[in-house]
Amino acid sequence: MQINDKSGLTPYLPSADRYTNMHFRRCGNSGIQLPALSLGLWHNFGSVDSLLNAKRIVRTAFDAGVTHFDLANNYGPSFGSAEENFGHILKDDLVHYRDELFISTKAGYDMWPGPYGYGGSRKYLVSSLDQSLQRLGLEYVDVFYHHCPDIATPLEETARALDYIVRSGRALYVGLSNYNDEQTKNMAKLLDDLGTPCLIQQSRYSMFDRNVEEKLLDKVQQKGIGFIAFSPLAQGLLTDRYLTNIPEGSRASKGMTYLGKNEVTALQPKIIALNEIAQRRGQSLSQMALSWLLKDQRVSSVLIGASSPEQLEHNLHCLNDLHFDESELNIIKAVLMG
Ligand SMILES: NC(=O)c1ccc[n+]([C@@H]2O[C@H](COP(=O)([O-])OP(=O)(O)OC[C@H]3O[C@@H](n4cnc5c(N)ncnc54)[C@H](OP(=O)(O)O)[C@@H]3O)[C@@H](O)[C@H]2O)c1
Repeated sequence: MQINDKSGLTPYLPSADRYTNMHFRRCGNSGIQLPALSLGLWHNFGSVDSLLNAKRIVRTAFDAGVTHFDLANNYGPSFGSAEENFGHILKDDLVHYRDELFISTKAGYDMWPGPYGYGGSRKYLVSSLDQSLQRLGLEYVDVFYHHCPDIATPLEETARALDYIVRSGRALYVGLSNYNDEQTKNMAKLLDDLGTPCLIQQSRYSMFDRNVEEKLLDKVQQKGIGFIAFSPLAQGLLTDRYLTNIPEGSRASKGMTYLGKNEVTALQPKIIALNEIAQRRGQSLSQMALSWLLKDQRVSSVLIGASSPEQLEHNLHCLNDLHFDESELNIIKAVLMG
């Protein structure tokens, strides 16, 4: 990689082959197609991280056909700084490619002090998105999500706020995140009635967290809503990072993350067993974990994180083998249930 003085990288010219290897999937019954792998900016893009590294990750993604980038108002740390950094990257590298990008952000969790800085009120959602657009340097996002259900706010108010956000041109589509099947059904009905259908539902789904298989995946499919799986590698547990220890610099080694050291230790035997299955398939554990999610056509996209361009490049190779035979699925199931 060539370095120059100003941004640390030479001017960016995207790869001409960027759409050669990516698979695109229809997002529910909509006109939108999403890349099988999308990139999330929850970690590694904040004010505490290297902007140069963040830029290299985004360039690697776009060069490989990853058109979808996922943010939220509070990604950082500090809150808002991932949007700000992505705004710099867009301005420096991708300003001419806005129409090839599908960018999402969210509001719902804590963002600023006081009663208007969290939840599902119209006041919070509209002002939060205005702040996000400013940080991103964009006129609109492609998807705006309500990040989590808020039982204190009437569903109707949140639905009307989401509808207003689309009608006012701040977002092209809306999505729901962390809503369960019943909440999704109720909100989707309100949004349908308002004429702003829910495009997509975003929930945690990995080999180590299969809750959505119980009801949600069927529910979104019935309603014609797309589904995007977040933390598909269980924040790095489903990689070869933690096979023997907790390496320095890994997410679990850092304080203030949602991946605890105890969780690593408890799951290590399963990680080792799954790693052996992956090797027999000719994949790494991370590649197998992503392929395993993508074998299900109800999954429109899998939303990965990466702390380096190399991790992202490595994971993209999962697309070379999305097939599992019955015996492999049974062996994996036995490990996961064990
Ligand atoms: N809607 C919500 O409430 C919600 C919640 C969480 C996440 N999300 C979205 O989902 C996105 C992805 O979440 P996530 O970052 O938890 O996803 P993930 O893909 O499960 O974990 C990503 C982490 O795994 C490690 N990793 C990835 N590839 C690796 C490889 N080949 N070898 C070794 N380690 C590897 C890296 O951690 P190291 O730092 O250890 O290298 C990386 O940062 C987020 O950015 C966000 O957009 C949404």
